[in-house]
Amino acid sequence: QKGHTVVPSAPLVIKEDPTLMFTNAGMNQFKNIILGNDPVKQKRLCDVQKCLRVSGKHNDLEEVGHDTYHHTMFEMLGNWSFGDYFKQEAIDYAWEFLVGVLAIDPKDLYVTVFEGSKEEGLEVDDEAKGFWLKHLPEDHILYGNKHDNFWEMGETGPCGPCSEIHIDSRSDAEKAKISGRELVNKDNPQVIEIWNIVFMQFNRLKDGSLQPLAMKVIDTGMGFERLVRTLQGKNSNYDTDIFQPMLQRIASVCSLSSSKPIAYGKDEKTDIAMRVIADHIRTIGFSIAESQLPSNNKAGYVIRRILRRAVRYGYTFLEQRQAFLYLLVPQLLQDLGDVYPELKQQEQLITKVIKEEEETFLKTLDKGISLLDELMKKYADTKVIPGKDVFVLYDTFGFPLDLTELILRENNYSCDEDEFKEQMQQQKERARNATHQEIGDWQVISEGASEFVGYDTLVTDSKVLRYRKINQAGKEAYQIVLDKTPFYAEMGGEIGDTGTLGDVAVFDTKKENNLTLHYVETLPSNIEGTLKAEVDVKKRQAIACNHTATHLLHLALREVLGNHVEQKGSFVTEKSLRFDFSHFQKVTPEELRKVEIRVNELIRENFQREEKRDLAIDEARKMGAMALFGEKYGDKVRVIKYGDSVELCGGCHVDYTGNIGSFRIVYETSVAAGIRRIEAITATKVDEAFYEQVDTINELRSWFNNTPDLRKAVQKFIEENSKLKKEVEQFFSEKAEKLKDFMLNTAQDYKDIKLVKFDGEYSPEEIKAAFSSLNKKTNDVKLAVVGATVYNNIPTISVFFSKPLVDSGKNAGKVVKEKAQHIQGGGGGPAWMATASGKDASGLNQAMTEIIEEL
Ligand code: SER
Repeated sequence: QKGHTVVPSAPLVIKEDPTLMFTNAGMNQFKNIILGNDPVKQKRLCDVQKCLRVSGKHNDLEEVGHDTYHHTMFEMLGNWSFGDYFKQEAIDYAWEFLVGVLAIDPKDLYVTVFEGSKEEGLEVDDEAKGFWLKHLPEDHILYGNKHDNFWEMGETGPCGPCSEIHIDSRSDAEKAKISGRELVNKDNPQVIEIWNIVFMQFNRLKDGSLQPLAMKVIDTGMGFERLVRTLQGKNSNYDTDIFQPMLQRIASVCSLSSSKPIAYGKDEKTDIAMRVIADHIRTIGFSIAESQLPSNNKAGYVIRRILRRAVRYGYTFLEQRQAFLYLLVPQLLQDLGDVYPELKQQEQLITKVIKEEEETFLKTLDKGISLLDELMKKYADTKVIPGKDVFVLYDTFGFPLDLTELILRENNYSCDEDEFKEQMQQQKERARNATHQEIGDWQVISEGASEFVGYDTLVTDSKVLRYRKINQAGKEAYQIVLDKTPFYAEMGGEIGDTGTLGDVAVFDTKKENNLTLHYVETLPSNIEGTLKAEVDVKKRQAIACNHTATHLLHLALREVLGNHVEQKGSFVTEKSLRFDFSHFQKVTPEELRKVEIRVNELIRENFQREEKRDLAIDEARKMGAMALFGEKYGDKVRVIKYGDSVELCGGCHVDYTGNIGSFRIVYETSVAAGIRRIEAITATKVDEAFYEQVDTINELRSWFNNTPDLRKAVQKFIEENSKLKKEVEQFFSEKAEKLKDFMLNTAQDYKDIKLVKFDGEYSPEEIKAAFSSLNKKTNDVKLAVVGATVYNNIPTISVFFSKPLVDSGKNAGKVVKEKAQHIQGGGGGPAWMATASGKDASGLNQAMTEIIEEL
């Protein structure tokens, strides 16, 4: 109503904003509009936005499950005004909606307004208070500080004073005892904020200062889960019909593998665990549906930690020793699949990935528990485990700290916490030093919009709009924004262009908040003048070949393997292309060959590129474009078509598929459960690979007198070789037999045993074979054999003791080890036979003499 257009939720996972990993507020998708980088298309919008508050400035993770009104993922309802209505209407509309439409009792509502901040030079917001006084008595209006009433997206970015609406849902008796006013913002679970109205007026810069926005913006955010709870008269978000079906499903799934039935609402610990799981499964499911799989870094790592948190609560409090989270996916789909179709589309992937992650982590838990057992045994005296050991358990084995603490407590152990904290601190510093990045403020040379013209031209005369200094892990560089640029900024898996700008080299190009940033080590000397911006043409062409080939590969894979194949990621450089896609088993060599042949066919059909720019998403879908997930409101898309291949894509492509020349798959592998990866090369890289193979084959051929039939020659060679090998083996075993016979025949009486001495040229293998054979024949004779031999210039001493000698305590291994020093060597073996080889043959006699003397 009131002229607002409903727009869809943007994705949860943010790909192109270095300041943010996940959508943490409804305003994220409008950030560029608010900052003035993108035009305002409609002044009034409203939406339901999937939000995730698990990292950075807004992080509720530790609260989730322990209280009843915080979530990792939640749905935020918002209305927006971009340079249109401001405080008064925003306040009036909010009131009208809550009291007029939803019929919430105004006596239960309290609002807060910003008290101002001297240090920031911000005034108290009596204007907002004035507008509220129309609706509420003064004692329902409170002042709030910067923490509660000045909303900021992150360390930098759009921000402004805000006015929060809180609801008191306590019983009448309790309200009579203590006024709701006293409990606003006091962590009372029954007096909670439900709606925040932000008066966006500033942009927070890196140096902490506030820069006024050119346009005033209304950003409102109302927690859907909290609103439903109010309307359904419940005391907890989890008692609403948003979460109840999931909690019941958790109870039935988890009861199957626990010693007693599990139910919600019986005891606090069980309830917390069930809430954690009911909440986390949403975050996990949605991120995987958006192709953000659990992994070891960045957003993927956050998701992995959330998944592990859920598994751990199940493990510790619900007795779950097997994977169980994946069994909740059907319920998630039932609850949210109609509203968010991406869940349904990715059901199989979500299930597989969760199951695999769970199983891996459960193994980690088992391993951690046995390591902890060992530690407890080791420190049984003091019952204090050093912090260093606990840290290794946590850091190297990924074993959760609170589980360590729990197990230690249960066994009356403790951990040296100071030492642990110290280790943790050191590790944090290491991580910070490794990723440290400083970004200076923009130096503006001239105002204006920046235009990308690199689809049509690779060289322009450009002017610098602004630049700033950056320092990444100790390396200084500059980022430059141009009024127009032919440089493609890294995006959609395609790397950024390189080239020159005036008299300096551009070593990378990246995008941030819709601005193309050119990376240079030094500033161009003529920074205020007109500069020639020129892309490295050869490299760009190679990139375009690989990018277009990626589209053709996508099409060919769907033709050969089936329509379940969907792009899950790609990485395109001038050297090669990498394509990740959903498929549930290994692609066979035959299938790969078919795909390769098909792509080359498409290349040779020489399709011309058909390109549509600025197409509305619906029109693009009508053209049959494979909808890549992740478009957001207002996005005009670009469609790239070659024959039957139609894709939404912002990347760089060849004019005709024939430009690619040829295509070859280098390998196929798995990257995660249900996701395969193909790496391939095109154009001159195929030629290079081809020449390398031809050179190898020609060289091989030359080793076989340039035979025309290399295959036959190699086959013959292998056959002959194996025949010779057999003959040699035969020869040696005969030799070994002879050696054994010789030993048996030359044995002489010595002390009370039989002794054989031998020397000559025998290989250690022969000697061992002879000893083995001898061993079978000497069970009832006390026989010792001592050899001092040289083979291939290597002196060796060898000793054999028959069984009766071994039984009487003789040990060939020990003897040989000890005497090896005479030949500067080493070796050993079991008690009945041992050999040692060395460097100094002149010591052989001494070794032999000593061994015999000591018999
Ligand atoms: N940006 C504000 C918030 O997230 C209002 O939407 O609370």
